[in-house]
Amino acid sequence: MAKCTKENTSKSASTQKAVKKSSKNTAQIRVMTIDDYEGVYKLWMSIHGFAIRSVDDSREGVEVFLKRNPSTSVVAVEDGKIVGAILCGHDGRRGCLYHVCVHEDYRMRGIGKAMVVFCMKALREEKINKVSLIAFTTNDVGNKFWHQIGWTKREDLNYYDFTLNEKNIIAYNK
Ligand SMILES: CC(C)(COP(=O)(O)OP(=O)(O)OC[C@H]1O[C@@H](n2cnc3c(N)ncnc32)[C@H](O)[C@@H]1OP(=O)(O)O)[C@@H](O)C(=O)NCCC(=O)NCCS
Repeated sequence: MAKCTKENTSKSASTQKAVKKSSKNTAQIRVMTIDDYEGVYKLWMSIHGFAIRSVDDSREGVEVFLKRNPSTSVVAVEDGKIVGAILCGHDGRRGCLYHVCVHEDYRMRGIGKAMVVFCMKALREEKINKVSLIAFTTNDVGNKFWHQIGWTKREDLNYYDFTLNEKNIIAYNK
């Protein structure tokens, strides 16, 4: 699973709360297709601390993912551009979310939550009963968001992985 952003380097929650008071979610939330790739990649590159993988997050990598999971990933579109995105899929048993993000200028307006709810509904339609994701422990923004929208932080397990392709290099946005 992807680890979203490593650090909390975005606008403060208080600033974002202030913005929220004067605005609401007017974004269109819809299924992601491969034609969205350029807009989604541009969004990823704008997210501070975001972890992008050379193979998995290439156009080819995302195309493979979307072919396996054609109905569960999502974009949010506003002002003619992609301002939010989630890669969401499942393995037949468990759903997972990757690269959950909203452009900094569009945060605290309900777009992130609306996209997550969209993914959860799409997974339920696929008869999936559980969904999970990884957040870096240092990602204050992400961890507050998951807590706020009612997700459970597991304290009773360790996360293990094993690299199968050394060429799938990770790079962190500044
Ligand atoms: C996390 C992220 C997707 C949230 O998107 P968003 O559109 O701003 O979130 P929403 O407006 O839908 O917020 C949903 C709830 O979470 C709360 N929330 C969101 N960000 C928060 C923050 N930084 N601090 C405290 N609460 C926060 C909102 O107040 C809202 O609560 P409410 O429903 O009680 O009003 C966005 O901040 C982001 O892209 N962050 C960088 C990438 C990242 O860290 N992704 C998660 C990786 S695990």
